[in-house]
Amino acid sequence: METPENAEQSLARIEAAKDFIFANLPVLPVPSIPEIRLHRAGPQSGLWRLAEQDPEFGSPYWAHHWGGGLVLARYLLDRPDVVAGRRVLDLGAGSGIVGIAAAKAGATEVIAADVDPYAIAAIGLNAAINGVTILPVLADLTKGELPATDIVCVGDLFYEAGLAERVTAFLDRCLEQGIDVLIGDPWRAHLRQSRLRLLAEYTVPDFGAATSSRPSGVFAFESKTPRQSRGNEDQS
Ligand SMILES: C[S@@+](CC[C@H](N)C(=O)[O-])C[C@H]1O[C@@H](n2cnc3c(N)ncnc32)[C@H](O)[C@@H]1O
Repeated sequence: METPENAEQSLARIEAAKDFIFANLPVLPVPSIPEIRLHRAGPQSGLWRLAEQDPEFGSPYWAHHWGGGLVLARYLLDRPDVVAGRRVLDLGAGSGIVGIAAAKAGATEVIAADVDPYAIAAIGLNAAINGVTILPVLADLTKGELPATDIVCVGDLFYEAGLAERVTAFLDRCLEQGIDVLIGDPWRAHLRQSRLRLLAEYTVPDFGAATSSRPSGVFAFESKTPRQSRGNEDQS
């Protein structure tokens, strides 16, 4: 449980992280998304210094772009009608790229949730650079109550088996409550394809493959039970 001391420590870590990111991670264009710029790690950024200072420093996913986030952000900018006038949750937001795209596309409210305080720091800075308002939330929302949202956007969150299971269970709860779910993913191993409907495909660079690109998909995640037959059951 989050205690007042924990919350204070998290806030202090987020503020220190903001200072470090601002000073050391250049603001760079994003491949295939000229509308968005992000603080991204480069050879001179010295992220190892954060790791030295902070024993809880994890993998700096927030400092890079990922195939899943790139395609989902591209899709939202190409199809603003999908999120315009709606409340959006960017789950596992990392740099905040998907939430930023949603806000630019006209979402009324964007929550960007991540379990990493450094991601929360990066999201705040990246939202400001791109002139949008986003609410960063430091929490594992897969474990708690569903947030008030109309659509959940998930960029590249199927890279580990256990995480993929937890995220899928959370997304099922969202569907049950009538919340739409969009997923962007470069066909990673733990992405279960049986309940996905491909909406668009783009070829984008993936993390660690800056010089080569791979096809990545944007999918609607669909109910186990088609919504129509659930309605039929209700009538019986
Ligand atoms: C591969 S990165 C993708 C980031 C971003 N969505 C994108 O596509 O660029 C995965 C992100 O999910 C976050 N994450 C992992 N487990 C999570 C959880 N249970 N709830 C929220 N965020 C989580 C990680 O901290 C990381 O920032």
